Formats: sequence, C-alpha cells, structure tokens
Amino acid sequence: MALKRKSKEFKWHNKHLLGLRELSAEEITYILDTAKGFEQISTRSVKKAPPLRGKVVVNLFFEDSTRTRISFSLAANRLSADIIEFTKKDSSVSKGETLLDTAKNLEAMGIDIVVIRHSAGGAPRFLSRNINACVVNAGDGFNEHPTQGLLDVYTIRKIRGTLEGLKIAIVGDVAHSRVARSDMWAMTKLGAEVIFVGPPTLMPAEVGRLPVKVSYNLDEVIEKVDVVNMLRIQFERLGGNPFPSIREYSHYFGLTVERMNKAKSDILVMHPGPINRGLEIESEVADGKNSVILEQVTNGLAVRMAVLFLVNQAAAESR
Ligand code: CP
Repeated sequence: MALKRKSKEFKWHNKHLLGLRELSAEEITYILDTAKGFEQISTRSVKKAPPLRGKVVVNLFFEDSTRTRISFSLAANRLSADIIEFTKKDSSVSKGETLLDTAKNLEAMGIDIVVIRHSAGGAPRFLSRNINACVVNAGDGFNEHPTQGLLDVYTIRKIRGTLEGLKIAIVGDVAHSRVARSDMWAMTKLGAEVIFVGPPTLMPAEVGRLPVKVSYNLDEVIEKVDVVNMLRIQFERLGGNPFPSIREYSHYFGLTVERMNKAKSDILVMHPGPINRGLEIESEVADGKNSVILEQVTNGLAVRMAVLFLVNQAAAESR
C-alpha cells in the first residue's frame, strides 16, 4: 500500500528507458500503474488515443524480433504516433554505415523516439548520450530487455496482486539472457525472491554478485516456487558445448508435464518467447492451464504504450 501511495505522488522524469537495474521500485511501479491505465484502450471499438499525435517513433532493430517489434509498432500506433520500421538487412548498415551515423541521419529527419534492439550490450546507452531523441531499449546483447522485464512483473502483479514474498524461478540459459537480468532487477526490487536455475555452464560469470539464489536442480526448486519463467536456449549466442546434448538438457531442465505434477497447483508458467517446444518446455505445459505466456504478450502492449508515453512526456517537460 505504501508503495502505491508513493507511486501516485511520483513523477517520471527520464526521457530514456535503458534498463531496470537503474530504476527504483517506485519508478517501476509507476510504469506498471501507467500501463494499467492504457490497458482499456485496446478493448475499445476505436483503439486509439492521441498522446503521441505528431510524434515519430523509429523501430531500429538490428536483431530479429516478432513480439517486441510488433508490440512497439502497435503501441506507437495506438497512441497516434507515426511509426517507421528499420531493419538491418534493408538498410545502409549493410554498406558499412555506423549505428551513430544511422541514428543521426534518422534524427535529421525529425524523429522523436528511437526504440532500439542491438546485439551489443550498451548500444542504447551509447545512443542516448549522442542523440537528442528519446531512446528505449528493446533488448541489448546479454544486458537488458527492460520492457520484457516490465511486462513480466505486470503479468504477475495483475494475477497475484503483488510480487512481495513470491518465489520465482528463472530457468535455463541465464548466461545469455537479457530477459533474466531485467526480470531479476524488476522482480527483486518489487519484493520477490529470484532463483536462477540451470547448468553451471549457463550461469552468468557474475552470478555470485547478483541478488539471486542459484540452483542446479529444477526438481528441487519446482515444488517451492510460485512462478517459473522458462528461458529460450539462445543457440545463436552459445559458444562451445554448454551441455552434452539437447536430450540431456531437456531431461534435467525442461518443464515437462511430469515436473509440473510436483509444482504448486496455481504456479504461473511464463516464457518470453520465442519457444523451443519440446526443448525447454513441453507443448502440453506451454499451452496448459498454468501458462500465462500469451497474457505476457497481451500485457506487453499496455506496458510499451506506457513507456512511449512517459519518455515522450519527460522529453516535452525537459524542453
Ligand atoms: N520476447 C522477445 O523479445 O521476443 P522477440 O524476440 O520476438 O521480440
């Protein structure tokens, strides 16, 4: 309750969203509360509101995406912004143009908000220091994926009311997961206990310095947790052989129907997508009664509307 009162008094002042590590519980709660207000726009017959009318949002995606890119496009659309789609393969990046030159050229055309996904951790922060437009991180390397972290805690809060006191397992390829890092910051700041679960070879080197518990045994953890968030094995980022075979990985760390039988009956099953069905999660579980995977996607829209709205408002107030 105290947090809710503070959130109402709180004023957002940042024209960028670069990560959740640097945000306070009040700031995260403020974004979630703002998103709640935007949820009903998507249920109207005319799914539009005017706050970003006349503004230009660029989706600057240097890596593939389905959910995040379309969700940001739709969010910008619902807020009446003009949205420009940029993908690496159709751009002059393929001719050697740098990230900064690309962004400065877009800025010269009058863009207001850059939503960037990049394989290099820190690329959004670099842009935010070198251009005037608002910068929103849509996933940078292994570093952060703040809107995924926000939509994950939004989904849990919507169903459970609070994250305070919940036990949450984040399972799988934690080492290569920006989602795991953003989730960890958001979930722990909102009062949950986070347990990273996976083989030692897929744990981040700095795990001992993070505010999490670590387990290498999913069977022990699954019985105790309120939420399990299954991560995708990021084959495109794996170096070497972190596990002997896919079959062995699934045997020890896959979320199977058999493992779900040991879990609490109301456990929430999450996955950021895209899913490797049959590898980190069995289809019956991904589509089962405890799964909130598609609710995560739906909630992402309201969260991204809130983020675009807030950074634009902060930019307007700083002029
Ligand atoms: N969760 C997520 O970031 O999905 P996409 O890669 O499809 O955007």
